[in-house]
Amino acid sequence: MFPRKQPPGKAGTAMSTTLATENSFRTVSDAVYAEFGPRINGPLPGPVAVKIVEGDDHYISPSYTRSYPLVAKRGRGTRVEDVDGNEFLDFATGIAVTSTGHCHPEVVKAIQEQAAELIHMSGTDFYYEGMVRLAERLSAVAPMRGPHKFYYGNSGAEAVECAMKLARYHTGRQNFIAFYGAFHGRTMGALSLTGSKPQQKRRFAPFVPGVTHVRYPYAYRGCSGGPQEQEAFALGCARFIEEKLFKTTLPPEEVAAIIVEPIQGEGGYVVAPSSFMQELRRICDRHGILLIVDEVQSGAGRTGKWWAVQHSDVEPDMVCIAKGIASGMPLSVCMTREEIMDWKPGSHASTFGGNPVAIAAALATMDVIEREGLANAASLGAKMQERAQTWLAKHAMVGDVRGRGMMIGIEIVKDKASREPVGAVRDRIVELAFERGLLVLGCGETTIRLAPPLTLKPEEAAIALDILEECIAVADREVRGK
Ligand SMILES: Cc1ncc(COP(=O)(O)O)c(C=O)c1O
Repeated sequence: MFPRKQPPGKAGTAMSTTLATENSFRTVSDAVYAEFGPRINGPLPGPVAVKIVEGDDHYISPSYTRSYPLVAKRGRGTRVEDVDGNEFLDFATGIAVTSTGHCHPEVVKAIQEQAAELIHMSGTDFYYEGMVRLAERLSAVAPMRGPHKFYYGNSGAEAVECAMKLARYHTGRQNFIAFYGAFHGRTMGALSLTGSKPQQKRRFAPFVPGVTHVRYPYAYRGCSGGPQEQEAFALGCARFIEEKLFKTTLPPEEVAAIIVEPIQGEGGYVVAPSSFMQELRRICDRHGILLIVDEVQSGAGRTGKWWAVQHSDVEPDMVCIAKGIASGMPLSVCMTREEIMDWKPGSHASTFGGNPVAIAAALATMDVIEREGLANAASLGAKMQERAQTWLAKHAMVGDVRGRGMMIGIEIVKDKASREPVGAVRDRIVELAFERGLLVLGCGETTIRLAPPLTLKPEEAAIALDILEECIAVADREVRGK
């Protein structure tokens, strides 16, 4: 992608040569590595990055959580170049956002053309075609029968706020059921539903009242048995709602909605079994409760289907969409069955929501995902997971490998017997990967997430897994003092 400083085959600097050849887990040839692999020129952060990080420390809110000092300058596809000319493979995609890769030419063209035509109008007061076009496209791939209605916002949290408010408005009920481990955003309503990390909630109470959190079917952390026991555990998590909650503290007729991530994202890339999702649907149907799926991270093709909920054959009432739907332009969507979105003019809106440029990016993104992303996420994602599964037998600290498509979680533990979380070791692996030119992020207490672009090439997948496996081995040696 970027002009190479060295011809392929002659690895650039002393550092990149050492790191590349040290890796005993290499499955690709030198030529493939040279063409598709990262290229690190020297110690990180480089001199230009150091200056920018200093400026950031001076001016920018300390509430942001940076795992390592990547100072990005430009990106193409899976590759990101930093301000010192180092090139990385991006398996974090701006937190699962650049679904078509960085700056996909079709997305860039759509943005440029729309920016030259009309940048803003405000869909809350005026009409423009893009809002309708995107609704038609999303309606055609919705995970529930239509007709549908759509609300546009700018962020995942805004899609969740819309779903919350609409659920109360439509049902006339106040309460919500959400799950431990869930992340739904940081605005006050969404934060009230979030049950992920104490720091996200510390000193922000009181929250929106009426939210009850219950257990998510995180089998690796709740059940030590085999598949049958795990299935029973998952069903038990759903049935607790009806058998305990509704019979003790929470009258079901006062519950507006259950909100669930079909795969918990920030919570650790934890997949909810189909039986659990189906049981939630049954409970909602029995009690007139709305089922909201938060597909902000798991949606837009990431799992190899448009929506993760489709793996479970469950039709939700509302879907929250953001992140990958517009390849990096700020756009979110709350999609519902038509009869649910029955609020009156003035009930809810946002000045920027459904911005024409963001919508143009989303339409182009959907073209790319439909044409090349969905199938690739399913097939290459499955192959990646298959390889990572082999680490369970090879590496003592790999406790669990799970996911769907290109949403893969690798849980790091002290050892398989204790399953003890080792967040610091996970963080060390993430840091080692950065030093070797691979961008990944953690999630949950002790999991590494892989969320590459859906347009990922097999060579890039192989190299990234080679690097990650090496980092796991290095961290293991460090921990055991070898
Ligand atoms: C499942 C889920 N919902 C909501 C959000 C909030 O999205 P945003 O950060 O765009 O507000 C996130 C962000 O990570 C998420 O993963």
